[in-house]
Amino acid sequence: MKELKIAMVGFGGIARAHYAGYQMLKEKGTPCTLVAVCDINPDQLTRQIKINTSEIPVTLPKEMHTYTSVYELIANEDFDMADVCLPTYLHKEISVKLLQAGKHVLCEKPMALSSLECEEMLAAAKVSGKQLMIGQCLRFDSPYMHLKNAVESGVYGKLKHLSMSRLSALPIWGFENWFTKTERSGGCILDMHIHDVDMARFLLGEPEAVSVVAHDDVTRWQWENTRLYYPDGVTVEITGSWEETRGTPFVADYRAVFEKATLIRNSGDVTLYVENEAPSVLPQIAGDCYAGEIEYFVHSIVDGTPNTVNSPESACATVKLIEALRASAARDGEKIAYTLK
Ligand SMILES: NC(=O)c1ccc[n+]([C@@H]2O[C@H](COP(=O)([O-])OP(=O)(O)OC[C@H]3O[C@@H](n4cnc5c(N)ncnc54)[C@H](O)[C@@H]3O)[C@@H](O)[C@H]2O)c1
Repeated sequence: MKELKIAMVGFGGIARAHYAGYQMLKEKGTPCTLVAVCDINPDQLTRQIKINTSEIPVTLPKEMHTYTSVYELIANEDFDMADVCLPTYLHKEISVKLLQAGKHVLCEKPMALSSLECEEMLAAAKVSGKQLMIGQCLRFDSPYMHLKNAVESGVYGKLKHLSMSRLSALPIWGFENWFTKTERSGGCILDMHIHDVDMARFLLGEPEAVSVVAHDDVTRWQWENTRLYYPDGVTVEITGSWEETRGTPFVADYRAVFEKATLIRNSGDVTLYVENEAPSVLPQIAGDCYAGEIEYFVHSIVDGTPNTVNSPESACATVKLIEALRASAARDGEKIAYTLK
């Protein structure tokens, strides 16, 4: 079986989690090897970075090839796949360059700053014949896989209501403080709220209407409360915030009410509640979500299996839905009809 050679582009905050994922996959025997790391700032290759309240230590081995320019990487390194962990405003430009250079591309979420940019990325992937996947990592995250299984199997009956929240302080670890500049990050709604919006689409497809109350602070759309309306009266309510007091724990919760049970995630395990039964903590069904998404992408390339879990077209559709949420927010939360175009 062919072993994919991988180069990481951007070695800041989230790259640490991907790097740990490559180490897990090496131990597991997944056919991929990280051969190069590129970051415009060489200090990033050794710096420890704290994301919210957690820190992932990293020490690159001496034999790792390192670059400070993606163009030098493309010109001089022999690799098959790039793992793009750059700030969002660079996703389109650099992913397109890498695809044009004949590389498969895994690019972090959000796919790009606008759906127009996403469509350029899709077109570049089509012309190159190489694969593109976006790191919508919740699709590979055990607590959300439980949710997906419950919705698809119908084991607890139909989903009646789902609420999700993802709350943090304003991110301040980024390159040139890019998170805090709306034109570079798209605000919390595109950067972080998108995780749960994408999950709603993954579970239930496109909503038929949306309604969003949001407010701005340092960035636009720094806090938002979204309602997605689905047929049969199913409502998904999602809160996203970059306004929490620094030092408070990062929150990634959900509460899913089915006809016969409720599943609750409080930033950790998932607990199942069934009437007249003791609550039970569900076992983990997958390991680390970053290792999981990389492994899935590597196998889809090496084995030639179709990417049915996380297509780039779906990631583009999620950005389109974010654009509709912004339109509702601009009208003070007016409920507006939604159709994917
Ligand atoms: N999936 C998740 O859970 C998750 C979590 C955090 C961030 N992200 C996403 O990952 C992406 C990166 O976020 P981050 O937190 O790692 O940001 P970051 O600022 O910490 O890291 C970006 C890195 O890119 C480097 N860089 C900037 N311009 C470059 C260039 N032209 N060429 C090469 N390197 C360059 C910077 O020096 C920095 O090290 C963003 O799109 C963000 O939304 C995803």
